[in-house]
Amino acid sequence: MVDRDKSGETTKDFSVDVPMETPGFFLKGSAHLNWGMKNRLSRIFNPKTGKAVMLAFDHGYIMGPTSGLERIDLSIPPLLPYTDCLMCARGTLRSCIQPEIDKPLVMRCSTGATILKDLSDEVIGVTVQDAIAMNASAVTTQAYIGGEHEKETLANLARLINEGNLYGMPTLGVTAVGRELVRDSRYLGLASRVVAELGVHFVKTYYCEPGFDEVVAGCPVPIVIAGGKKMPELDALTMAYKAIDQGALGVDMGRNIFLAEDPVAMIQAVRTVVHDGEKPDKAYDLYQTLKK
Ligand code: 5RP
Repeated sequence: MVDRDKSGETTKDFSVDVPMETPGFFLKGSAHLNWGMKNRLSRIFNPKTGKAVMLAFDHGYIMGPTSGLERIDLSIPPLLPYTDCLMCARGTLRSCIQPEIDKPLVMRCSTGATILKDLSDEVIGVTVQDAIAMNASAVTTQAYIGGEHEKETLANLARLINEGNLYGMPTLGVTAVGRELVRDSRYLGLASRVVAELGVHFVKTYYCEPGFDEVVAGCPVPIVIAGGKKMPELDALTMAYKAIDQGALGVDMGRNIFLAEDPVAMIQAVRTVVHDGEKPDKAYDLYQTLKK
C-alpha cells in the first residue's frame, strides 16, 4: 500500500522519477506478451505517442438510458472520428454502431447488477469467444477491491484473463470504488496493483491527488483514467493533463465528453492533452474555438 506518515509524506519509495523501462515493445510491462496481444494493444494505444483516448459509453449496462446516452445512435457516432477506442457493451455495439468503422473496441463483459441494487454483485455475461466474434481488441470487467463482492469480482476478472490468454485477447481491469471507500492514492494504488498482479494487461482507475504518480509507479502495466462525474470542461482537461503528466497512458472518458456542452469539441481538446501533452488552458482555448 502507499503509506504516508502524519504529515502526508510517503514512507514508501516508488522512485517516481525513474520510468519503468519498456524494452522491445512500446507499452509498459507488455514486452513479453504474444503477438496477438501486442497487436491488439497497438490498436488501442497509438504506437507513435504511446497513448490512448478511449470513449466509454457502457454506462447503460447498469444505469439504463442515462443522461447523454438516451440515444446512443445519435450521440456517439459524431465522436467516433476523434476516439482511438470504444468501450461499450455488446448490445450497444450491435444495435447502434455501424460495423464499417475501423476503431478498436474494449468489450464490457460483466452483468448481474444495476443501480437499483448492489453494483458489485456481478458475473461475467459475455464470453471471450463472443467478444472475439465481435472483433474486440480487449475485454473488461471491474473489481470492487474492499467491496462486499471483492472475491467474486476478482474471480470475474481472473476468468476473462484466463480465457483471453488463450486467444491473445488483452483484459482491461477496472478498479471500481464502492460508495464507502475513499478514492485516494492508498486505495487506488492497492486496487491497481492487485489487478495488475492478477494479470490484467492495462488498468482503468481514477485520478487522485496527491500521489497519483505513486499509483502509476506501483502499477507495472499501463494505466488509463476514468473521467468520473461531469465537471466543468476546463477542470476535466486539467485532470486529464495532470494524469498524463504523472504517467497515465490515456483516458477512458465518458460523461466528461458526452455531457460536455459540445462533445465533439471536447473530445478533440482531450486528444491534444493526451497525445500532444497540450496544457489545459491551451486545450480549453481549442475547445472554445471549436465549440459551435
Ligand atoms: C465504470 C466504467 C465506465 O465505463 C466509466 O467509469 C465511465 O466513464 P466516466 O466515469 O468517464 O463517465 O468503467 O466502471
